[in-house]
Amino acid sequence: MTTPDLRLVPALPEHVDLWMAMRDEPVSRRLMPLEPSTRESLLKRIQESTADLSDPKATSFRWMVELDGRIIGTVAAKELSRFQGRIEIGYMLSSAYHGRGLGTRAVGMVLERLFEWPFLHRVWLTTAADNLASQGLARKLGFTLEGVMREHYFIEGQRKDQQVWGLLRSEWEAARRSLRLSP
Ligand SMILES: CC(C)(COP(=O)(O)OP(=O)(O)OC[C@H]1O[C@@H](n2cnc3c(N)ncnc32)[C@H](O)[C@@H]1OP(=O)(O)O)[C@@H](O)C(=O)NCCC(=O)NCCS
Repeated sequence: MTTPDLRLVPALPEHVDLWMAMRDEPVSRRLMPLEPSTRESLLKRIQESTADLSDPKATSFRWMVELDGRIIGTVAAKELSRFQGRIEIGYMLSSAYHGRGLGTRAVGMVLERLFEWPFLHRVWLTTAADNLASQGLARKLGFTLEGVMREHYFIEGQRKDQQVWGLLRSEWEAARRSLRLSP
């Protein structure tokens, strides 16, 4: 059996409909605090982000996740502060590909790239308290649950607790060794 070929590719305007469809899946709507959006607003977000980490002015980054030539998800990193050495990440896969370790691999690939910035000290993310897959992914990649913002999310008419998770550079180095991402 061959290992599926998982790659990150830059998010492009042509990916907007796939991204919209993923956001519209019931599992995404149930677990993510998605603000109302339009095709135009998502296109603008793609156009305002880049996958070029060498761009000194960029603060918002987005990749699509490609499996054997098919786009199956997206990973973003936003609100980079070069001064503070921190960035926030977010991620989503199409539900047909959940629970196969692909989310962990794709986000791991993004972390690998982000920590190439020598100034980066910390990556953080938020997730709903009932999003067990996202929490499993975060834990596997070495993140620590740092706190809870009570009833911070409003999702499908319900208030939900928001968890904040953080990953320091030293913790990433330990996690990537245990994930065998590096020698
Ligand atoms: C969150 C998401 C990206 C995770 O990706 P994934 O490929 O499904 O997750 P993985 O298969 O890599 O699983 C990571 C860990 O979480 C655990 N996990 C996965 N799905 C789970 C579930 N439904 N319930 C409990 N644990 C789960 C896995 O067991 C795994 O740990 P293990 O390898 O030690 O068993 C994906 O499920 C998704 O896109 N969900 C909808 C959108 C979303 O919630 N995005 C995140 C918003 S914060």
